[in-house]
Amino acid sequence: MDEILTRNFCIIAHVDHGKTTLSDRLLEHTNTVEQRVLTDQHLDAMDLEKERGITIKSHPVTMHYRAKDGRTYKLNLMDTPGHVDFSYEVSRSLAACEGAVLLIDAAQGVEAQTVANAHLATGQNLKVIPVINKIDLPSANLDLCLQQLEDILFIPHDEAILASGKSGIGIQDILEAVVTRIPPPRWRDHKGTRALVFDSLYDSYRGVITYARVFSGALRAGDGMTLMSTGQKAEIKEVGIFTPKMVKIDMLGEGDVGYVVSNIKDTSDIKIGDTITLTRQPATEMLPGYKEVRPMVFCGLYPLESNDYEKLKAALGRLRLNDAAFQYQSESSIALGFGFRCGFLGLLHMEIIQERIRREHDVEIISTYPSVVYHVKAHGLPEIDVDNPVLLPDPGTIEYIAEPTIRASILIPNTSMGDILSLIMEKRGVIDHTDTLDANRVMLTAILPLNEILVDFNDRLKSVTHGYGSMDYELGEYKADDLVKMDILINGEPVDAFSSIVHRSKAEGKGRELCEKLAEIIPPQMFRVAIQAAIGGKIIARENVREMRKDVTAKCYGGDITRKRKLLEKQKEGKKKMKQIGKVSIPPDAFIQVLKN
Ligand code: GTP
Repeated sequence: MDEILTRNFCIIAHVDHGKTTLSDRLLEHTNTVEQRVLTDQHLDAMDLEKERGITIKSHPVTMHYRAKDGRTYKLNLMDTPGHVDFSYEVSRSLAACEGAVLLIDAAQGVEAQTVANAHLATGQNLKVIPVINKIDLPSANLDLCLQQLEDILFIPHDEAILASGKSGIGIQDILEAVVTRIPPPRWRDHKGTRALVFDSLYDSYRGVITYARVFSGALRAGDGMTLMSTGQKAEIKEVGIFTPKMVKIDMLGEGDVGYVVSNIKDTSDIKIGDTITLTRQPATEMLPGYKEVRPMVFCGLYPLESNDYEKLKAALGRLRLNDAAFQYQSESSIALGFGFRCGFLGLLHMEIIQERIRREHDVEIISTYPSVVYHVKAHGLPEIDVDNPVLLPDPGTIEYIAEPTIRASILIPNTSMGDILSLIMEKRGVIDHTDTLDANRVMLTAILPLNEILVDFNDRLKSVTHGYGSMDYELGEYKADDLVKMDILINGEPVDAFSSIVHRSKAEGKGRELCEKLAEIIPPQMFRVAIQAAIGGKIIARENVREMRKDVTAKCYGGDITRKRKLLEKQKEGKKKMKQIGKVSIPPDAFIQVLKN
């Protein structure tokens, strides 16, 4: 087979180790983008990405580089999302490459994500090029980084390239290493065309644009294509590459990375990790590693103002167009009215979507507590998935409830060991093993229930380690445990938005906390109101709402009767807008206040 002057690679790194800055340097050095066109960070397009400093969507770029051997190579650089919520997307971007540049911040050294990413890359059989970055920093500790490379990642230290994306040191060395160390495109000898789908984007004029890496054969406009996971057929309208702008070309051939526009209209028809083949001469086997992505974390999203419902619905529809991993369907709640049940890959994904709804679509929303997906088996029925506690079968019939666990790699300073061990225990985790990284740091591997890290695990980790701890995780197995549904009752009536599935050992504490919050927020009523937390029929916590009538006229001393009447009328009006839970009137935003903090 002919030699092929294409190299496909990605840059992987822990957050903030300088991936975007370095990518920009590579584009500049290969004259792919002129310096004046480079905004300070070219590859991170979305504002939100810039603000949060994390790359959410991968953008590939094709560069041309004239190497020291005198030949011009086509280099396709894939920018991979670094966060664990997007780990399937990362693994598909990696699968589209033959090599990876692994960045290590010279001042920070190896971090939890560096290790996780390096494992992902070697798991895909990629050639890893280690780069110690930011060597311009006065706090750079090269010896330590080189030592860690050998001890933790098992990469010989003499393979490392020293670089600084900021000062432009080592850029050419990196490009040369990409050309000489990374193998040419693999799997070209397969009979039939195979291209890997690693991303997609929705364009309001052209519909769904699929990002693909061709392994064997070729894709051209006019060809009929088939998506192998579903057998869905479509017609290719256009193919092209990213420079980083989309530029139309005649054909995407072996080893090429580019985009495909077809007559597919719905983003959900394009699945990341799927294989595109030609309809007239289909490949017999898909590319390896395809997996259907399923949301792992669910919550209810409700408009703060009920007349924003349609606006929220439109916003969710638009977000979904560009993000097939995000799911939603309508639901209603006694406490919160009409809204949507939404599914996300993880917590960060959830936060990003919520923030985009607020910011880009200008809808104020309230979200219910996040929940994971439980596997539930009731007598005589098949096992079902439950992502909303309200849908749990009758407790008397339940045989078991199993919850998802994660395998977390937690990197901490030695001095925080005691605090972290108690945090892990509190979160029902167990330590699998510990590795000493260097004189000051250890890496713990722990198995924890996913549900327990949803709310504040990361914040607490950061706080007990004074910001030095970091964590990455992969999903583990489902495990059955003593999990129960806890209801919150107001005067005997359950309030759906506050139902949750909790571990029995934690039910009482959590129940008491919620009852206290509600008792504080619900205004005094004409009669005594009990707020209770219950498991099945058993009450595990109870608070009372004060019993009294708020005298709104108390402030009006003197005898201005018209003013008094006005105030009383206002109070009556206020009452009309109240939510009724049984006989109890509750201001509509009371629930929101509880969910907010
Ligand atoms: P994520 O997208 O969040 O993963 O970040 P990133 O890895 O793309 O890092 P980015 O390029 O955004 O850089 C993170 C910070 O490090 C920024 O403040 C950069 O200015 C700084 N930085 C990047 N490269 C260098 C470098 O070589 N030297 C120094 N001193 N600072 C750098």
